[in-house]
Amino acid sequence: MMRIDIISVIPALMHSFFEHSICKRASDAGLVDIVFHDLHDFSLKKHRQVDDYPFGGGAGMVMAIEPLSRCLDQLLSERTYDEVIFFTPDGQLLKQGLANQLSLNTNMIFICGHYKGIDERVRDKYVTREVSIGDYVLSGGELAAAVTADAIIRLLPGALGDESSALTDSFQDGLLAPPVYTRPSEFNGQSVPEVLLSGHDRNIDAWRHEQSVLRTQKRRPDLLS
Ligand code: ADE
Repeated sequence: MMRIDIISVIPALMHSFFEHSICKRASDAGLVDIVFHDLHDFSLKKHRQVDDYPFGGGAGMVMAIEPLSRCLDQLLSERTYDEVIFFTPDGQLLKQGLANQLSLNTNMIFICGHYKGIDERVRDKYVTREVSIGDYVLSGGELAAAVTADAIIRLLPGALGDESSALTDSFQDGLLAPPVYTRPSEFNGQSVPEVLLSGHDRNIDAWRHEQSVLRTQKRRPDLLS
């Protein structure tokens, strides 16, 4: 079973996300275990403080090294981890290929940053990979951790109803997914492309591939080059 330990100062931000949909089904099915750790529980300070002023001055607080290393040391003493991932806008951009790669791991630790960031020594000592979910700044790493976990979990064999459906996602073959339709075949003058009603599998596959290519050329030509 895959295990993801998520270290955060506001784990509640992620609770409802993992209690629904594919992620919920995957954990109910025993495919993944998501374990939340509230960083405040690892603080020895008064008021369970986890941040402090930056050396050298400047605005914003920095997540201190002690609570993080106490939490990480404990986890690392309990089992071996394939990755310790820190979510940060200056990390490697999350793409489908990275999600595919991470979905092969067994144990991972996700660290969600807050404030101005975490003490660089945590990154130097513990972090094996830094991941960004896009070129914008979030208030914390929690949404990035949830996005990344979702992209990984839906790839676990058995997580999706139809075993093959993750393979036909956008990006899996470097193309965007084709349009999809369901009943009714005719609605207020809008109809479904004839070929999809034909029952002719080879023609349907060819049409879908053609639509994928057209859509990718139009919307994301960068994916084709
Ligand atoms: N933390 C803040 N912004 C982020 C981003 N874009 N990606 C990952 N982690 C973040």
